[in-house]
Amino acid sequence: MREWVLAAVIIALNPTVGMAASAEAGAVVFHKCQICHQLGKNAVGPNLVGVVGRKAGTAPNYNYSAAVKNSGITWDEANLNEWLEGPKKKIPGTKMMFAGLKDANDRANVIEYLKTQK
Ligand code: HEC
Repeated sequence: MREWVLAAVIIALNPTVGMAASAEAGAVVFHKCQICHQLGKNAVGPNLVGVVGRKAGTAPNYNYSAAVKNSGITWDEANLNEWLEGPKKKIPGTKMMFAGLKDANDRANVIEYLKTQK
């Protein structure tokens, strides 16, 4: 009986269990990005409005590293997922100084959130 109650509490406290990627949860994850990224303009990092589906290194008037600019990749969900797990592993030489999001749910949610920023 005790175990059942405990399991129910754990599920109640963890709304991501069994749920699809959520833009709402992603907005919270995005707080970690906001040290460097703003939506709608360049900051330490480039403007991320419209980044999903965009060619890497092409936000206007942003001074990218050569590594990102010449990467030739397009930010589809698969590439974003790998990038957000480990930016330096995905594109060695990048100047995005971010250790990465280790939790796959966090990555999926923040990508879902970025999709809403058009
Ligand atoms: C410490 C600062 C910093 C943090 C934190 C950070 N970024 Fe970045 N980001 C950058 C910089 C700087 C670049 C440009 C990289 C380059 O030119 O090598 C960048 C580039 C990017 C790009 C490529 C954009 C393009 O136009 O090609 C994406 C996508 C991105 N960041 C997403 C994120 C997300 C999502 C988060 C949060 C989970 C995040 N970043 C956290 C600094 C940061």
